[in-house]
Amino acid sequence: MALKLPDTGAEVLADGRRMVPSAARNAGPILEVLMGLGLQGRLLEIASGSGLHAAEMAGKLALDWQPTDVDPANLPSIRAWSTHAGGEIRAPILLDATAPDWSVQLGPWDAILLVNLLHLIPAPAAETLLAEVALALAPGGTFCLYGPFLRDGQPTSPGDAAFDASLRSQDPTIGYKDLAWVTGQLGDHGLSVRLVDMPANNLMLLAHRPAVVV
Ligand SMILES: C[S@@+](CC[C@H](N)C(=O)[O-])C[C@H]1O[C@@H](n2cnc3c(N)ncnc32)[C@H](O)[C@@H]1O
Repeated sequence: MALKLPDTGAEVLADGRRMVPSAARNAGPILEVLMGLGLQGRLLEIASGSGLHAAEMAGKLALDWQPTDVDPANLPSIRAWSTHAGGEIRAPILLDATAPDWSVQLGPWDAILLVNLLHLIPAPAAETLLAEVALALAPGGTFCLYGPFLRDGQPTSPGDAAFDASLRSQDPTIGYKDLAWVTGQLGDHGLSVRLVDMPANNLMLLAHRPAVVV
């Protein structure tokens, strides 16, 4: 069943790029955090959606950027954004990030970016996703996870409470994940986590895999 999400105001431009206002709004703050990390090498973007983030960020970060999404219908827009950006992004590939063992085929990555997916999938699927991300990270690699989270089991604003409730009313297995649960999962996989406050009560979790296992 397709989730009914709040109207994003998305529109498709003549060249096939899907313009998503929320993605355009958070691209700048997310880029600013990523710029501060000194990332180098290969980045895997999970759930690229429209492809706008890849186009806005890949060139400025000088990263070898691999966009992916589970939905084949998103690939044309990702390709169109890539063309618009001068073709500096790899061709998008299909990836269900909640499938077991994808890291065996796809890793290792110096960085992995995931924006706004965890609240849309059930907890067991999120658990598999986080485990696979940890396996797919190269030593010294960083997982950048952006989105809304519960804090001590509570939403952080009336708007977040309403969105979380609307998700759960459509599917009781999905909804915002608790921050402590997510950081706990990442810690269990050997990643150390740092939090960055982002606009609109969102967070960026920066989960680092140690360069050398002692
Ligand atoms: C809310 S959109 C976010 C898109 C993009 N990251 C952004 O911020 O604009 C969620 C995206 O997750 C993708 N998605 C849903 N389930 C997924 C899964 N199991 N594996 C990978 N991507 C998935 C959807 O196709 C959609 O593109």
